[in-house]
Amino acid sequence: MKHTLYQKFNKFYNKDAQNAYFSPGRVNLIGEHIDYNGGLVMPCAITQGSYLLIAPNEDGVFRFRSLNFPEQQEIPLQDQYKKDGDNWFNFPIGIINYFTKDGHQLKGLDMLFYGDIPLGSGLSSSASIEVVTAFALNDIFNSGYSKLDLVKLSKSVENNFIGVNSGIMDQFAVAFGEKNKALVLNCDTLEYQAVDSNLGDYLLAIINTNKPRNLTESKYNERVQECKEALTALQKELNINYLCDIDAETLKKHELLITNAVILKRAKHVIEENDRVKLAAAALANNNLHEFGRLMYASHDSLRDQYEVSGAELDAIAEYGKTDPNVAGSRMTGAGFGGCAIALVKRDAFDDYSSKITKYYTDKIGYAPSVYSSLIGDGVGLLNLLVN
Ligand code: GLA
Repeated sequence: MKHTLYQKFNKFYNKDAQNAYFSPGRVNLIGEHIDYNGGLVMPCAITQGSYLLIAPNEDGVFRFRSLNFPEQQEIPLQDQYKKDGDNWFNFPIGIINYFTKDGHQLKGLDMLFYGDIPLGSGLSSSASIEVVTAFALNDIFNSGYSKLDLVKLSKSVENNFIGVNSGIMDQFAVAFGEKNKALVLNCDTLEYQAVDSNLGDYLLAIINTNKPRNLTESKYNERVQECKEALTALQKELNINYLCDIDAETLKKHELLITNAVILKRAKHVIEENDRVKLAAAALANNNLHEFGRLMYASHDSLRDQYEVSGAELDAIAEYGKTDPNVAGSRMTGAGFGGCAIALVKRDAFDDYSSKITKYYTDKIGYAPSVYSSLIGDGVGLLNLLVN
């Protein structure tokens, strides 16, 4: 792939790329809609992601091209950059805007992007492109940001430039991911542990619903707002900064403070899910994949019934898992409303699973899902310049 990218870069820009970078996508094993509530999540970086090839130019312009989209853009250096509709290049432009406003002297750049994460599939293609751009700019212009700074500034671009009030999980996972490790990340303190994602006889399957996602951003922001309402209600009696500062038992004692039934359901999901992540981390450490799988199903049920971010497509995948003895657990991953689900599937039964889930899903939903077996890879970095 790298070879083809170098050739394309040369064809587009009539010169060689100076550097090449890669940032992965991510799946979240468990801990959904938790990051913006200050709790624990368990994401891993996957081996698919975003590539960025780049070379400085002397023309005082930023040029953006992608192998995934026909739209390209060329903009002169300026003091402030604006979002341009829903175009893909808003992500790198947002990062450039951040560096500029933070006082860094930039120069013109020719850039070529390529991503092999299915877009809008809930595998964090946006965090991946943000982080790869931030990492590249920091490297080329010696801007002096730490990797954690790059995570935080990419999140800030997502929140303030793109307009999605997401938490920090995706940017953190794609920056700090490690091969064959899951990150147990505390989204309040940002302390994390990279734990062996030893799945024994099982592998991690990713099932893309192939459902076109819409309303995701507005529904996502609505959930963030609902959690704020729940928190404000609880703060009348409890001295807490986040919903995840309390456990399910404490919520039970104080739940009368939340008078709106919908808001209470949202709070229950968040607080119980956070408790589940603790149990899931222990189960993984003890190689107890049945317990891990049980927690995955419980997480899915709660996202469906209490948080209401699932849908017929994601539900069909989790439902099927419960009927197949080769599946230890299955759940939606990411924001929801479409996108991807994951499943822990017996390694030697993956092909059987793949054909059965495809049939089940297609009969129920009317079109086929895409099923992959996934590898857990490293976080953002410079690609070796040797062409292969
Ligand atoms: C999206 C957001 C994350 C996180 C998940 C849900 O991926 O970008 O910050 O909130 O949804 O867990």
